[in-house]
Amino acid sequence: MSNWKRYTITAALPYANGPVHIGHLAGCYLPSDIYVRHLRANKKDVVFICGSDEHGVPITVSARREGITPQQVVDKYHKIMGDAFKEFGISFSIYSRTSSETHKQTASAFFRKLYDEGKFTEQVTDQYYDEEAKQFLADRYIVGTCPVCGNENAYGDQCENCGSSLSPTDLINPHSTLSGSKPVLRKTKNWFLPLDKLQPKIEKYIDSHKDWKVNVYGQCKSWLDAGDGLQPRSMTRDLDWGVPVPIEGATGKVLYVWFDAPIGYISATKELLPDTWETYWKDKDTRLIHFIGKDNIVFHCIIFPVMLMEHGEFIVADNVPANEFLNLEGRKLSTSKGWAVWLHEYLQDFKDKQDELRYVLTSIAPETKDSEFTWKDYQTRVNSELVGIFGNLVNRVLVLTDKFFDNKVPQSSGNPDLSAFLAEQHKKVSDSLENFRFREALTEVMNVARYGNQLLSEKEPWKTIKTDKDLTAAILYDGLQIIANLAILCEPFLPFTSKKIFDMIQIDAATLSWTDAGRTDLLPMGHKLGKAALLYQKIEDEPIQAQVEKLKATAQALAPPAPAEKTSKKMEESTGPKAEITFDDFAKIDLRVGTILAAEKVEKADKLLKLTVDIGYEARTIVSGIAEHFRPEELIGQQVSVVANLAPRKLRGIESKGMILLAEDSTGKLIFAIPKISTENGSIIR
Ligand code: 2FM
Ligand code: ZN
Repeated sequence: MSNWKRYTITAALPYANGPVHIGHLAGCYLPSDIYVRHLRANKKDVVFICGSDEHGVPITVSARREGITPQQVVDKYHKIMGDAFKEFGISFSIYSRTSSETHKQTASAFFRKLYDEGKFTEQVTDQYYDEEAKQFLADRYIVGTCPVCGNENAYGDQCENCGSSLSPTDLINPHSTLSGSKPVLRKTKNWFLPLDKLQPKIEKYIDSHKDWKVNVYGQCKSWLDAGDGLQPRSMTRDLDWGVPVPIEGATGKVLYVWFDAPIGYISATKELLPDTWETYWKDKDTRLIHFIGKDNIVFHCIIFPVMLMEHGEFIVADNVPANEFLNLEGRKLSTSKGWAVWLHEYLQDFKDKQDELRYVLTSIAPETKDSEFTWKDYQTRVNSELVGIFGNLVNRVLVLTDKFFDNKVPQSSGNPDLSAFLAEQHKKVSDSLENFRFREALTEVMNVARYGNQLLSEKEPWKTIKTDKDLTAAILYDGLQIIANLAILCEPFLPFTSKKIFDMIQIDAATLSWTDAGRTDLLPMGHKLGKAALLYQKIEDEPIQAQVEKLKATAQALAPPAPAEKTSKKMEESTGPKAEITFDDFAKIDLRVGTILAAEKVEKADKLLKLTVDIGYEARTIVSGIAEHFRPEELIGQQVSVVANLAPRKLRGIESKGMILLAEDSTGKLIFAIPKISTENGSIIR
């Protein structure tokens, strides 16, 4: 393994504006955790840094949507995210947050140093301003058509479709996401990093890293080679949420979130190690690696390294192994569209099955291109690989040893074939891990289990016991050593499983390290083993079907609002009119006026409310995805328009009979689409 003195490993600080889903886990947090666990198993000095990104427009947009303050948004999600990471065994050394005092001071001091040394250019530029909302429109407050790929919903800072980093003025046909109005240009002063002048420095840095993943190096090169090359980028914003710009004459301005957030890695290290943090950021013998998703490449490969170089005291990343995106059941993951599997919900439905998800997500990780999670594939992989291969081997070996050898490691004179095989596997897994090829590494771990199963099938110890006890002892001895090897090798990927195996074989994991894998004497002869228990349970069709249905139902319930992506009326219109229908088509819809009689939250579903609606001739249960927009108590007595003859659907086990019509106003707020004059319940709308 490469010989660095210590390692600083960072995982992208997620925006604290929504729970963590499987895309986050597969893209960034699992690979970083696997890598760090491997380093720790090799007794390396490593800090693993993460925390919540609590500034920036995404937070303020969520606050508006949820009708709470930005501080309430970040407090709520910081906890949810931190808990989910912990439960999935993501072994951060610290999970901090950018609203911490240490961070504010660190980010301010960093900016101040660059400012004092004249590293910024001060520019008065025309920036978009929303005259209705009386606010400058930075980053995600503005949307328009991406000049690179034509995506009509590109943000002012980035196009999520093609990954291009943008400025609001790059957008074609820009609109405010606050009011939907067309913004005007107004003059304002900001502080820019002159990336144009710094381009040669950045080029030198990127060119010295041809070893980076092809997707990462390629994206950097395309940035550097684009038309006019890099452009100056403003490091401040006219906003009221963020770290205040620490200089005179900058009232009402905050640091750009992409200036402040990566400094969060440094502040978190300071909080973790107040006395020694500097060695992890300033010593040339420290290897700095940023784990991120592909939408963060430009910020971690160009902007943050430039900031660090301009500051002068810091090391820069030696590698940035960014992943591509994970899709879900054929569609792009989207929190706001309800098309996601959230970690906290997964654990409610699949208790104690963290490793099952870790396994599947690592097996399909989007390492070189976008990949796809489906529930069916999850079930197949768990049942045929974890249950059928891994769990089956461990269980058979332990049960047979108990039965034939009183649960003690039997005698053997050694098996050179097994030694050679395990040594080779150990090397293969290590090489793949070091090169960030986690899928491949996991396959090689599974090949060890496959080898063990093959050994049992070929040698049939349950038969040899009748004729040759010594031979049986040798077979099971090998089986046990394979299991002990698996406990070490699977730990980075499946830490919960590893612990269970160590418990079953009655070995203290701390007494072994990564370099012990490959040995065939991990379990000494005569060693007393513990009780065998099943590592994994087969997943039946029913819970899988339920997940698919839940996904579709949540997405459907959230269909009209989709707030984050469609916050303006203009944008909604820009999706174009729907196809023509006949009068007969329309006449099929039974639209009625109703009144909400009761409303309550649906358990374990943040977005759903269960409503009882009087539609004249009966009171109906309707489940609606509006929990983030209305409190239950404020809905009692509310008149609504109901699609009364919509086929019933089950949402979270509740039968929903009908749908409520909603519209979105210009600020993204939901309003009930109802006849203006209050009408009797049951009146038909035509
Ligand atoms: O894309 C995101 O979720 C960002 N909050 C990542 C920030 S990474 C770092 F710079 F802090
Ligand atoms: Zn684009």
